[in-house]
Amino acid sequence: MGEKSKLNIGVIGYGFMGRTHSNAFGQAPKFFDLAYQPVLKAVCGRDNDKVHSFAANWGYASFETDWRRMVERKDIDLIDIASPNDTHEEIAVAAAQAGKMVMCEKPLGRNAAEAGRMVAAVEAANVPNMVWYNYRRAPAVTLAKQLIDDGKLGKIFHYRAKFLQDWTISADLPQGGAGLWRLDAGVAGSGVTGDLLAHCVDTAIWLNGGIEKVSAITETFIKERQHVLTGKVEPVGIDDASLFLARFNNGSLATFEATRYARGHKALNTFEINGEHASIAWDLHDLHHLQYFDHRDEGKLRGWRDINVSDGDHPYVKNWWVPGTQIGYEHTFTHQVVDFVAGLSSGTPASPTFRDGLATDQVTDAVLRSAGSGQWERPGDVT
Ligand SMILES: NC(=O)c1ccc[n+]([C@@H]2O[C@H](COP(=O)([O-])OP(=O)(O)OC[C@H]3O[C@@H](n4cnc5c(N)ncnc54)[C@H](O)[C@@H]3O)[C@@H](O)[C@H]2O)c1
Repeated sequence: MGEKSKLNIGVIGYGFMGRTHSNAFGQAPKFFDLAYQPVLKAVCGRDNDKVHSFAANWGYASFETDWRRMVERKDIDLIDIASPNDTHEEIAVAAAQAGKMVMCEKPLGRNAAEAGRMVAAVEAANVPNMVWYNYRRAPAVTLAKQLIDDGKLGKIFHYRAKFLQDWTISADLPQGGAGLWRLDAGVAGSGVTGDLLAHCVDTAIWLNGGIEKVSAITETFIKERQHVLTGKVEPVGIDDASLFLARFNNGSLATFEATRYARGHKALNTFEINGEHASIAWDLHDLHHLQYFDHRDEGKLRGWRDINVSDGDHPYVKNWWVPGTQIGYEHTFTHQVVDFVAGLSSGTPASPTFRDGLATDQVTDAVLRSAGSGQWERPGDVT
């Protein structure tokens, strides 16, 4: 067999997501039969020593300290953006204009306007593109999608999603800088709406279709925090908690909630969907299980089933270990690489594309508009 064509990758950012992506590009071809061989060609970070040691640890062939140099390199096919939200638009647009494929972390832009320009750039350049909404590719979530598409739930009435954390409760926590850029609205764009709810919204649109309108409330519990970069106490511009009601285009009603003030919860990312025949529920803390209730079951046996999504029949699972053994969080990223590469060879791009990422940013923008106006807002309506 001849050598596979190489897919030369340049990753920008070596933090949390830089690690998950590096791992995914390395693992995907070992466990799945890919048409292209991902090659960790270069990683980019601004600190020479840190990026050097990251490159050595993860097996990158080279490193850069300026993303512009990486985008210009002729030996790189795909730019992967794993840096904070304020860098996404500039890097993605430059990468697309240089003819590179682009994968970008979520949220796509700090707002829908940025995301719209990113969509325009990748579509004008006609380059493959994808947003890392990785939770779609937890096997149990993919199974939920299959069950819905198979019509097992029938007409859907309710969608309920939460993403709860508790790591910003202390008023002593500063904002800004490495590790705490999520608390700086200038860098992050928004608080939990863009960071956590965006995940819930992407999954919801994928599973249940478009959102017609939203009515939201947000709160910033700690109004001022010291800024790491200026040393001064500055107003906090992010939303600490964000809750909204929604009506989907299919007529179903929904509640969404995200907060970093739910003491005891680290990453309680859940959804429950109630249909006319059946309901399903999922929880990231127990990610290989899908809860399923089917009213069509024989009455005396009817009840919630706890499906252990670890058998060969289940999405992605047969490429890993033996039935009944589990895979976890990092595999969601590996599956995303697998599907992206499959999209390159089949010609049908894997979702979520940048255009799908824009749809989520339009909903999160509408959530923030509604929290400000006190009115119902429609994702498409920009005033
Ligand atoms: N898909 C998910 O579940 C998920 C989870 C966490 C974060 N994210 C997203 O991933 C992105 C990165 O988040 P993170 O948690 O990895 O952050 P992080 O702070 O852990 O890492 C960010 C990295 O980007 C680097 N960086 C910053 N500015 C840069 C620049 N101008 N040039 C090159 N490198 C630069 C930093 O040095 C750091 O290495 C964000 O958009 C975030 O929303 C997604």
